[in-house]
Amino acid sequence: MLIDGELVGSVSGKCFETWNPATGEVLAQVAEAGREDIDRAVGAARKAFQGVWRKTKPSDRQRLLLRLADLIERNVDELALLEVLDSGMPISLARSSLIPRAAEQVRYYAGWATKINGETIDNSAPGDFFTYTLREPVGVVGAIVPWNSPFVIAIWKLAPALAAGCTVVLKPAEQTPLTALRLGELVLEAGFPSGVVNICPGFGGEAGAALAEHPDVDKIAFTGSYKTGQSIVRASASNLKRVSLELGGKSPDIVFADADLDRAIPGTAWAMFRLSGQICCGGSRLFVEQKIYDRFLSKLSDFSASIKVGNGLNPTSEMGPLISSEQFRRVSGYIQSGLEQGAKLVCGGERLLTGDLRNGYFMPPTVFEHVKPHNKIAQEEIFGPVICVIPFKEIDEVIALSNNTTYGLAGGVWTQNVQKAHAIAKALQSGVVWVNCFNVMDPAVPFGGYKMSGYGRDSGADALEQYTQVKAVWVNVGS
Ligand code: NAI
Ligand code: MG
Repeated sequence: MLIDGELVGSVSGKCFETWNPATGEVLAQVAEAGREDIDRAVGAARKAFQGVWRKTKPSDRQRLLLRLADLIERNVDELALLEVLDSGMPISLARSSLIPRAAEQVRYYAGWATKINGETIDNSAPGDFFTYTLREPVGVVGAIVPWNSPFVIAIWKLAPALAAGCTVVLKPAEQTPLTALRLGELVLEAGFPSGVVNICPGFGGEAGAALAEHPDVDKIAFTGSYKTGQSIVRASASNLKRVSLELGGKSPDIVFADADLDRAIPGTAWAMFRLSGQICCGGSRLFVEQKIYDRFLSKLSDFSASIKVGNGLNPTSEMGPLISSEQFRRVSGYIQSGLEQGAKLVCGGERLLTGDLRNGYFMPPTVFEHVKPHNKIAQEEIFGPVICVIPFKEIDEVIALSNNTTYGLAGGVWTQNVQKAHAIAKALQSGVVWVNCFNVMDPAVPFGGYKMSGYGRDSGADALEQYTQVKAVWVNVGS
């Protein structure tokens, strides 16, 4: 792990294994952070925050971030390969989209480092006072991230924190520690002072919980399940640390009869099947207008069945395995519950066991129809490649159905009618709405949820603001 500028083992000497989910093979032994290691990392982050990092000029933070972005880009092949081996995602996605996007994210926040300002404020207090604000970093940030898109999500937390002048302890998911560790080496190569970034792989119940409870951590930035989100909020009460949460979803994706089906068919399929459905904003509830229901379903089924599932290292693979046997069991359990509650499989639903796929956790694109809105598969986050198709007749009906969930991360609508598009965009209770597209993201555009999908945002100026706090200064200038 990376603590205080050095690559070290754990205090206990313990290690854990990380696997390749496409083959079941062990990839590496990784140092396992316990409470003592988290203590050391938080101590180093605190020292750097009070000392060297607080004194670093904004332009120097900018330069370091730009250097890090260049290094990510220069090592894109290696980072993509590590990400594919550890998480199972397709190399095409990692190499041409996700890792380059992470570099862009770092560059975007590098730009912000020199543009974080307070204000002068005209006040009406009796007397004569000059008032201004200072926008200051919140301090030591604990970043706890998941395994579905490990590198990008780690960067989502790290880049704005560093731009704002915070220091960081990053805990990657136990399933996917490898790109985070390589990132640690790149941070050193870029020349960040010791202790500004610390990276501690380990398990949630131990290292994650220690970070969330730690009295000297000022903020937790988390992406993961709502249950872990709840336990982080409870743990945060000890010192009232700030928390931002990007949790799960059960996003609606709405297709009106007037939609351009040549776009909507692949669009709605990839809205859910990207990353094998292990995606928080996935369009898992697909509402299709009755008039085109049969035609749409048959085309969606054909398209889904044509998606190439395989080892992510194969450049033609479009969809990889699920992350673990545990996740495979979870997803299979949902498919079973769908069948038991009367839903009908249109395609997929059974593990792929042919040839090389036998040793991995491969589930093909799966589409259900005859799903009732109250069924478990229409209410709970499956986090696998499963779409539930539900017909609708009226716009008010589909709005009510769409919002009938405890989640509120994202939603999509496919229509050529501008009134309908804007009406849906306004009516959906979610932090993101995509019109005639899905899963598009950019460093400048905020991403995050309403309702039980969490609070706080990743990306954009909104995310940056959450790593800062504001101080009001009163100067008596009266004579
Ligand atoms: P999780 O939320 O438990 O894990 C995410 C991160 O939190 C990991 O780094 C983990 O080590 C850490 N963690 C776990 N328990 C913790 C604790 N008590 N204190 C602090 N940190 C802790 O998710 P898990 O178990 O990997 O997956 C379960 C389900 O969660 C999935 O099936 C999916 O529905 C959802 N999920 C959602 C994600 C999203 O992007 N919103 C990402 C991963 C999972
Ligand atoms: Mg792994």
